[in-house]
This record gives sequence, C-alpha cells and structure tokens, in this order.
Amino acid sequence: MRCEGRFNIMKTNNYSGFHKLSLEQRAAEVAEFANLTKKEIDCIINPGALTNDIANNVIENVIGTYQLPMGVAMNFVVNGKEVLIPMVVEEASIVAAASNAAKMARAGGGFTTSYTGNIMIAQIQTINIPNPYFACQMILHHKKDILDIANEKDPILVKITGGAKDVEVRIVDSIIGPMVVTHLLVDTGDAMGANAVNTMAEAVAPFIEKITGGIVKLRILSNLAAYRLARATAKFTKEAIGGEDVVDGIIAAYAFAEADPFRAATSNKGIMNGIDPLIVATGNDWRGIESACHAYCSYKGKYTSMTRWEKDLDGNLTGSIEIPALCGLVGGGTKILPAAQIGVKILGVKTAAELAQIIAAVGLAQNFAAMRALATDGIQKGHMKLHARNIATVAGADGKILDEVVAKMVAEKNISVDYAKEIISKLK
Ligand code: MEV
Repeated sequence: MRCEGRFNIMKTNNYSGFHKLSLEQRAAEVAEFANLTKKEIDCIINPGALTNDIANNVIENVIGTYQLPMGVAMNFVVNGKEVLIPMVVEEASIVAAASNAAKMARAGGGFTTSYTGNIMIAQIQTINIPNPYFACQMILHHKKDILDIANEKDPILVKITGGAKDVEVRIVDSIIGPMVVTHLLVDTGDAMGANAVNTMAEAVAPFIEKITGGIVKLRILSNLAAYRLARATAKFTKEAIGGEDVVDGIIAAYAFAEADPFRAATSNKGIMNGIDPLIVATGNDWRGIESACHAYCSYKGKYTSMTRWEKDLDGNLTGSIEIPALCGLVGGGTKILPAAQIGVKILGVKTAAELAQIIAAVGLAQNFAAMRALATDGIQKGHMKLHARNIATVAGADGKILDEVVAKMVAEKNISVDYAKEIISKLK
C-alpha cells in the first residue's frame, strides 16, 4: 500500500497517515527516505542483528540480549532540513507527541540550532596543598607544558581536532579542606571522548603534583560539559497551536517549572523523554547525557527548567533550550551495535555536532508537546488510548480484535488487563 505524501516523491517527512501503515510498510518508507539497503532494514525488522557474539564483546558476563521498539518521529525540520528521528523507547505516546510537536513547529519554520563545539572537560583533583592560590597560578604558568603532555598521548586526535586546547583551574572548598581542581579542555571531535580525556588527565597528573607539591587523586572527565552546548529554538505560531490561550497556558506551565524544582524535575523528565530515545537509537550513553543535562540546568544555583518559553510581539510562542548534548558517532555503542548504525543513517548525520543539535531540537519539541497537553486537555486523554493498546496486547488481544478492545476500554474509561480479558472473551 502506498499513501499520499510518500517519501520518495516528496523527500519530506511531513507524511500524513504514516502511523496507519503496517510496520513493514513504515520500514519500507523509512528505507526509501534514508536510502537504507535491504540488509540494513532487515537488521532492525528482524530480531537477531545483535548476535550473541557481538553482545559478548560489549559488556561483561553476557547472558543474552534485550530488545526495545524502534520508531521514527516525523515532521522535524532542523535548520531547514527534513529529518527523521529514530527513537528507541518503551513509553507509549513519546513518538506520537514528538511528531505532533514538530508538525506544529513547521508553521514557524521548524527548529533552528547552533553548537559551541566538541569540547570536553577532564578534571584533575589535587589535595594537600597549603597554598592553593599559589598552586593555581603555578598550573596556569605551565599551561603549555600541561597541554603538551596531554597531547603527546593522542597524536591522532591532535591531528584531527587539535586535542587538548586549554587549561582552567579552580579552588574547590570541601569537607577535607580546599582542593585545587585543574580542568583540561579537550576537543574530542566526533567522539564523546571519555577515553581520550581520561587518558590525558592521567598523563598530566604527575607533572601537576611536581609543580604544586600536592597529591593528585581523581583524574576523570566531567559530565558537566559546559563547553559542549547544543542550542535549539522554535517559534510556534499561535494559530498552529490552538490560539493565544494555549500560548498563555504553556507559559504558565513553564513558569511553574522555572520556579519550582519539584515541577522542573517532571518537566525535564519530559524533555529527556525525547532525548534519551534518540541517544539510545544512535548507540550513545544515556546516563551521560542525563547527568549532563540535569547538572547544567542547576549549576547556576537552582535546579530549574532546561527550556525557556516566551511570547513574542505577535503573541506567538517561542521556545529555547541550551544543553550539554553529550554524544558521539565514533567509539562507544555507535560503531558496535548494528541497529545503532541504522539509527544514525536514518537520522542522516555525519558529525557529533549535527547529532547534538538535533538532540536539542527533539528535547525542545518533546517539552512543547507535554506542556501543550498539560495546558489544554491534560496528559491522560492522548496517553490513555496508547496505554490501552499496551494493556490490550498484554491481555492477549491479537491483530484482528485489538482495535475493538482498545476502543471499548477507552469508551468505558476502564483500562485494565482484567477488563481487556473480559472483552476479549466476549468477542471470541
Ligand atoms: C511523562 O513521561 C512526562 C510528563 O510528565 C512531562 C511533563 O509533565 O512535562 C508528561
């Protein structure tokens, strides 16, 4: 079956009725859009691409593999380019909500993004220094020596990106007294870069001990990647999102998250609902970006919203986000996990910088979707229908009766496995 707006004609992801296709038809359409080969599309349609042999080399004590659904969020335009967002996640309604938000953003031109560069921070903790201010200056006097020692460790990275580029130093007061913390700023290129920066931090430690007279303890990257920031903005026209009342409702919802850490935690969870599935789909480290984003939105003194929402002079809603979008395309899971390579190909990115910016755009979209739902109908209306599908499936409803069971549970406002089983037995 083909439907209007198919990718190969339009080369657009603004595709109506995509969710009504069968799984195989959807996969075929995505394959066409992203130029996936038959082998590549088979890799995600047929379980088993992640063989035990591969899995056995990824982590320790492997006993098998574990699968999650991969979907695609539609309608995204990022910096004028149509992109399909691969999402790997277990929670119903995330993919639909992201697609819906991206559709509404199109009237305002989609998402615009920028990036500060692939700079990671490695920390070197030095203790037992009686004169920490003096020690800080000693470290800064020897900045070039420190960078040279670090860069000797990774000539290939130096060739590609310049490697370690700068040194910062801080005095951190602690329960064991002041400590001198050196930051090594390293351009890790398309790698997330943990291995590269940790190796460099270990390499410079003896020299830092020598020039400060202190004792170096930890040598490890900081997940608070404050120089690796991705930014995204979008304008949602008031007409596209249901009028000025909706704009005001979303701003009131944002004001709540901005002011109250209890609400900010939930609002930010909604942002990570968009970010983590893309991170997983591209084989990246979701724990890393979680800690990075939550730390970044609190390190100025108060835990607050990762996004900001405002109204422009014409009454339209404008949203913005700035996050440390920790990710990479070389190393880590991206190159090892077969499905992650397909995720990257679907997304169509070639650099960590492109990936980071799309991550920010998806986070902003997901936040918009949740806030619009919360500010209008409430979250349950859309959620319960999708939740009912999960429940009906758990209760054993198969393809033919699934829709009927879902419709009845939603109409009766009784969504439970027991009730689904009762409906199934009556239908059968
Ligand atoms: C649920 O997974 C995410 C939301 O709670 C986010 C939010 O409240 O903004 C809906």
